[in-house]
Amino acid sequence: MTRFHRATIRIGGVAEYGASRYVGEMSMRAAPALSWTTAFAPATVANLGPGFDILGLALDDALGLGDTCEVALQPAGQWSLEVTGDGGRLPTDPAQNAAAVVARAVLERAGVQAGLAMRLHKGLPLGSGLGSSAASAASAALAANAAIGAPFTRRELVAQGRVGEALCAGSPHPDNVAPALLGGILLMAPDPDALPDGLQIVRLPVPERLRVAVVIPELEVRTADARAALPKHVPVADAVTTAAHVGLMVSALYEGDLARLGLGTRDVLHQPYRAPLVRGFVAARAAALASGALGVGLSGSGPAMFALADGDSAAHRAGEALVRSFAESGVVATWRAGRIAPPQP
Ligand code: HSE
Repeated sequence: MTRFHRATIRIGGVAEYGASRYVGEMSMRAAPALSWTTAFAPATVANLGPGFDILGLALDDALGLGDTCEVALQPAGQWSLEVTGDGGRLPTDPAQNAAAVVARAVLERAGVQAGLAMRLHKGLPLGSGLGSSAASAASAALAANAAIGAPFTRRELVAQGRVGEALCAGSPHPDNVAPALLGGILLMAPDPDALPDGLQIVRLPVPERLRVAVVIPELEVRTADARAALPKHVPVADAVTTAAHVGLMVSALYEGDLARLGLGTRDVLHQPYRAPLVRGFVAARAAALASGALGVGLSGSGPAMFALADGDSAAHRAGEALVRSFAESGVVATWRAGRIAPPQP
């Protein structure tokens, strides 16, 4: 018996997690060839202005922004990782890489005694503000979960995905990794009593005509640095404004009121402190608003920016305005626009 077969037998010991069917298929194979399981996770826009750490959306796959992870089960203790598309910048030590750490968390949570061969294909620039680490974490969580017979729902994988965010950004904020796994627009509220992970996740309606443009300037801002730029305390007036703006956005999504949605994206909580990290931000925001965008802000911790728009043409105009404005500030940038990813079951 090969070592691979011994590994599958150990995996079979966790039938309560639904892995036994998969193990049965594997055990019938004559040759121990690696069987790869692939998963994709999209780029995400966190915060959406005032919803710092609590609002986020996933971009539709058609925008072509996201990471892909492939995994193949290996005997326990055998972990390997190849990364492409990162220019050689991400760690390939499985103990240091968010995708591998998340995949390991999924297997451990399932009680599966196996290792993984992993290949991570980065389709998102690092430090871009489009949820690059979250896309890696989410694609790894989905692939690892599928490889062991899908014991967890996507909602349950959010907890493991946050482990990757904690490793990369020093904080387990959910507003990239939850939409990367679940699609749509989400509101995430900390709630110590909420099962399974102390987080209420509310799926918000997506108005039919709502589109998003994202601009990706050739700048890099590490999320950890952008979080360190924030004050420990904010004036009560700013807290009140923030609560009001989040309320405007949530109510606007329920009522399909795109103009009110745009008004709500104004932020006083984090963007004023982060703007100095993104050359050209203030002018780009003004330019996109002048082009007819409903609301404009930093995507996550930046430097990418998002613009909400009513329909495709308006989203394209906003994307072009953002790129033109960045060029005037001496920053090369590209844009994409499209729909919000549909909800994932
Ligand atoms: N909410 C996080 C932040 C998102 O703004 O720091 C990081 O992409």
